[in-house]
Amino acid sequence: MTDVPTDPFRDDMLKGRVVFVSGGSSGVNLGVATRFAEKGAHVTLVSRTEEKLIAAADTITSAGGSADYAVADVRDAEAVRAALELCHERHGLIDVVLSGAAGNFLAPVNKLSSNGFRTVIDIDLIGTYNVLKHSYDLLRRPGAALISISAPQAVRPMAEQSHAGAAKAGINMLTKNLALEWGGEGIRVNAISPGYIANTEGTSRLIDTPEKSEALLRKIPVGRLGEKTEIADLALFLASDRAAYITGAIFDCDGGLTLN
Ligand code: HXC
Repeated sequence: MTDVPTDPFRDDMLKGRVVFVSGGSSGVNLGVATRFAEKGAHVTLVSRTEEKLIAAADTITSAGGSADYAVADVRDAEAVRAALELCHERHGLIDVVLSGAAGNFLAPVNKLSSNGFRTVIDIDLIGTYNVLKHSYDLLRRPGAALISISAPQAVRPMAEQSHAGAAKAGINMLTKNLALEWGGEGIRVNAISPGYIANTEGTSRLIDTPEKSEALLRKIPVGRLGEKTEIADLALFLASDRAAYITGAIFDCDGGLTLN
C-alpha cells in the first residue's frame, strides 16, 4: 500500500478487555493480538512453542502493551482448558477469544495419509472446538466476542487442500452453530476468512514458486496480497461493541479471491 490511512479506531476502544489468542505466537493471529494490545486490551498468547511465545509477548510489551502467554497444543483439550483457566485466574472474565491456531501443507489426496488428513482436522477444527467450547464458562456475558479464523478453501475447492478445506468448512459451520446456541447469553461468534496475507507462514507454504505467485495475483481482484493489519482491523471491529448485532457471520477479507 502506498499511503498509510488514518487509524479510525479509538486508542482506548479495548481498554481493560481480556483477550485469549490461540496460535498467537505468529502470523495473522499475532497481528491481531498486537493490534488489540495497541487498543488497550490485555492479550494472552497461546501456542505450542514457548520460545516463540516469549518473543511474541516481549514484542507487544516492549511497545507498551500488556501480554503474557500459556503453552498449549490446541489438539489437547485439557491443555487448552488449563490455558484458558490461567488467563481467567490472572486477568478475570475473558472478553474476546480468537481461535486461530492452524496447520497446513500442500498435498494431493492420493499422497495424503489418513493421519495427515486427520492432523489438519485435529489442529484446525477440533482445536477451534476445544478453544471455543472450553472458553464458555469463563466468558463475560453479555458482551463476549469469539472469532474463528477460517480460509477461502472452506467455500472454494483448491487443489492439494482437501484437508484444510474440510477443516475450515467445519469451522464455518461450528461458528454458526455456536452463534445460534450462545446468542441468547450475549455471546457473539463470528469468523474471518483471510485470503493470502503477506509475510505469513500460511501463504509461503501455499505459494512456493514465483510462477504460483504470478498466477495467484491474477486471481485476486484487488491485485495484491493482504496485510496482517487488514485482518487485525476487521477483528478489532468484530471484537468491539460496535459489532453488537453481528453474529454467526463469516467475513471474507481476501481482496475478492473467493469471487474468482
Ligand atoms: C503430505 C504430510 C505433509 C506433507 C505432514 N504430513 N506434512 N503429508 N504432505 N507436506 C503428514 C505426515 O506425514 C504425518 O502423516 C501427518 O501429516 C502428521 O505429521 P507430523 O509432522 O507428525 O505432525 P505435527 O508435528 O503435529 O505437525 C503438524 C503439521 C505441521 C500441520 C504437519 O506442518 C505444523 O505443525 N504446522 C504448523 C504451522 C503451519 O502449518 N502454519 C500454516 C497454517 S496457515 P503420517 O501418515 O506420515 O504419520 C493456514 C491457512 C492458510 O492453515 C490459508 C491461506 C489462504
